[in-house]
Amino acid sequence: IQQQPFAGVRLLITAGPTHEALDPVRFIGNRSSGKMGYALAQVLTELGAQVILVSGPTALPAPPLARLVRVESAAEMHAAVMERVGECDIFIAAAAVADYRPELQASRKLKKHSGNIDLRLVPNPDILAEVAARNPAPFTLGFAAETEALEANARAKLNNKGLDMIAANLVGGAEGGFDRDDNALLLLWGDGQRELPLMPKHQAAREIARALMQRYVTST
Ligand code: C5P
Repeated sequence: IQQQPFAGVRLLITAGPTHEALDPVRFIGNRSSGKMGYALAQVLTELGAQVILVSGPTALPAPPLARLVRVESAAEMHAAVMERVGECDIFIAAAAVADYRPELQASRKLKKHSGNIDLRLVPNPDILAEVAARNPAPFTLGFAAETEALEANARAKLNNKGLDMIAANLVGGAEGGFDRDDNALLLLWGDGQRELPLMPKHQAAREIARALMQRYVTST
């Protein structure tokens, strides 16, 4: 058995949430711990890959062997990815990127007053879709967090974004996922799929790495 099947393979991984500032002290963000992306970075470096981890704000320690690039917002994550994606073989989008950001960012703390506040939100770029649409594009693995119709929604995302592979998990129930230590996943690719039962995220990362290697090798 080969000890370092990812030796010489360059990976770019996004992880964590993004924070979209409203003012210097407030933000809109997603509920994401970053654990899945950090576990993937850890496991893949152990398997020999060169990993750059572009991470939104998390409380996690840096994986020892990966290069960590810290960002706050989706715009910063987008810039950090685009700067480096040309030199990577595999792109894994494990970040829970905020789909929208406030149109305006106050430079001073917004004051409380008695009336309502209207927030106008504008869309953020879809980093994963943009990477997958490059020519040449790296091998792309995306994530899909869904509250219902897991397989159908994930397969639609795989096709619409033009991905090589997607890891889908149900969120909002007892099945793990966001902000948890365990995850149950459904891996989908062009003509196949594999179910990963509820397991710790480090173990899930090993299973994803195994499936990723098989798909990556057959695609190159
Ligand atoms: O469309 P949806 O947000 O559900 O897609 C999830 C996948 O797309 C994840 O892999 C996520 O990291 C990625 N994504 C992204 N940039 C965005 C939104 C999602 O890279 N702006």
